[in-house]
Amino acid sequence: MPELSFGEKLLIARKQLNLFSYQMAEQLGVHPNSISKYERGEGKPHAAVLRMFDLLCEKHNIRFDEFEAGSAAADKGDKMKIVLAEKVSPATLAVFSAEPGWEVLTHDQLPNGLPAALADADALVVRSAVQVDDALMEHAPKLRVVGRAGVGVDNIDAEAATRRGVVVMNTPGANAVAVAELTIGLMLALARKLPAANSTMHAGKWEKKSLQGAELRGKTLGILGLGRIGLEVAKRARGFGLEIIGSDPFVSAAVARENGIKLVSLDELIAGSDYITLHVGLTPQTTGVINAKTLAAMKKGVRIINCARGELVEDAALVAALKSGQVAGAALDVFVEEPAKNTPFAELDNVILTPHIAGSTAEAQEAVGIQIAMQVREYLKLGVVQNAVNLPSLSHEEYVQLAPYIDLAGRLGSFMAQAGKGGDERGVRRLPL
Ligand code: MLT
Repeated sequence: MPELSFGEKLLIARKQLNLFSYQMAEQLGVHPNSISKYERGEGKPHAAVLRMFDLLCEKHNIRFDEFEAGSAAADKGDKMKIVLAEKVSPATLAVFSAEPGWEVLTHDQLPNGLPAALADADALVVRSAVQVDDALMEHAPKLRVVGRAGVGVDNIDAEAATRRGVVVMNTPGANAVAVAELTIGLMLALARKLPAANSTMHAGKWEKKSLQGAELRGKTLGILGLGRIGLEVAKRARGFGLEIIGSDPFVSAAVARENGIKLVSLDELIAGSDYITLHVGLTPQTTGVINAKTLAAMKKGVRIINCARGELVEDAALVAALKSGQVAGAALDVFVEEPAKNTPFAELDNVILTPHIAGSTAEAQEAVGIQIAMQVREYLKLGVVQNAVNLPSLSHEEYVQLAPYIDLAGRLGSFMAQAGKGGDERGVRRLPL
């Protein structure tokens, strides 16, 4: 039976203890980067780190025998084919390439196109450009998992994937700091008119008078959506002396308070903020949340930052509010149509535009890539489900217990489909766990 590597054990333990890398790093007394390195199979831990790890596992009764049995089974015959449809970091590639017998195709190795490459693929990894719709998945009869290196899964038809027994995973949190940092940067850029200061200087002008700005200190920041990104924004905003209010139906007042945020209703946030930043996912409830009515209810001179999704804002209404001065400025990183062409915001001086770069830092791209690669690998090898958007998370132990029932449910589904009572035969398939 092959022994799991230290990196594999570390990842399993971290998932079982539900720790972020930095928290595991604190437990073991190492730098947070070392945790990702070990989990990628790089670097050799010091004996003292190994000892700390053993003690931690002993304390929490973490055992690896079942995983070793699982990985023995996987090693015996399971060859996997992974298609990386968009550019990923070398470290991401390395997670898959380290698996003996696994075939990995990168975006520049698809001479006959993506559909052809998917004919015998077990996993597909994308970022935000490739549309994974039902028609594409039709070409992928063996597909078991789609990994999204990033948070938003609006380029993946999760419903179609579910019907086809394909798990869709994303990487919440891995780019949260990058998005939060851009948000703060855009707030400052709006408050201090940095784009105008820069462009007038480049044009040889000295526009000191017209470039007087406003301080963030003492203003109220309204954060719509208190997930990982919203909380990272709050953490940084506190340092600027902003009052922070937040709205999120899924977060308790106590959690908000712990993060220095006063939890308020959406209406209160809209009415009470000097700056509003959006950090909610795109759902039917959040689509168009910034519209003519909510804009009219805002304080005059409010500034709006959107690093989440373009569809959260009704463009025509925001353009009108920016022209009338109801909204003093907006910073937009995301658009309904991307790449954004002929956007009406381009003509407005009080708008800062960036091309969906909030998650585009070297660190975040590395983090989302490695995280999705490890999640996909653990799913293919051990059935561990992490951060799936269409299946509850499953540990290896839970998977072992549930697998027969999942199998039974899949068989019943196929039976129903074949009997013509269960709807679309084409779409029903056993969950390939
Ligand atoms: C995300 O959804 O992760 C961010 O918008 C960044 C990206 O699309 O890659």
